[in-house]
Amino acid sequence: MELSFVMIKPDGVQRAIVGEVISRFEQKGFKIAAAKFMQISRELASEHYGEHEGKPFYEPLIEYITSGPVLAMVIEGENAIEAIRKLVGKTNPQDADPGTIRGDFAQMTGRNIIHASDSMESAVREISLFFRPDEIIEYERSDEPWLYE
Ligand SMILES: Nc1ncnc2c1ncn2[C@@H]1O[C@H](COP(=O)(O)OP(=O)(O)OP(=O)(O)O)[C@@H](O)[C@H]1O
Ligand SMILES: [Mg+2]
Repeated sequence: MELSFVMIKPDGVQRAIVGEVISRFEQKGFKIAAAKFMQISRELASEHYGEHEGKPFYEPLIEYITSGPVLAMVIEGENAIEAIRKLVGKTNPQDADPGTIRGDFAQMTGRNIIHASDSMESAVREISLFFRPDEIIEYERSDEPWLYE
C-alpha cells in the first residue's frame, strides 16, 4: 500500500466540488488516511512548490494556492501515487482527458483545482510538510476484502 499527498486547491473549495472529488477517490477504493482543512501560509506554499521557484508562473501560483482554504489529504491505496495522478489528469485541463478530475471540472492550468504527488519522493516530502506522523490514521475500510484479492 502506498500513500500520496492530495490537496483540493482554493478554486476546488470555492466551486463546492470537494465532496465530488473525494467521492471519486472513495469510489475507486482509495482510503483517506488524513485530512486537514486549512489556509496555507506563503512559507508553506513556497516550500511545497519550491521546485518551481524562478519560473514565470511561480508568483501567481503562490498567490493562487494561498488565496483561500484548501483541503490537504493523505490518500492510501494500491499504487496510489501513479493511480491518483491518472484520476487527476494532465496539468493543463485542456489536455486532461474527460473522466479525469481536471478534465471534467477545470479550464486553465492556473486554476486546475487539485494537487497530487508525482513520485514517491514528492509524496514523502509533501506528507511530512503538511502532517505529523500521528495525524496519519491506520484503519481498514470494511470493503477492503472486496477491493483487494
Ligand atoms: N504554465 C503555467 N501557467 C500557470 N500555472 C501553472 C503553469 N504550470 C504550472 N502551473 C501551476 O503550478 C502547479 C504545479 O505545476 P506542476 O508542473 O507541478 O504540475 P502538476 O504536478 O500537474 O500540478 P500539482 O503539482 O499542483 O499537482 C500546476 O498544477 C498549476 O497550478
Ligand atoms: Mg507537481
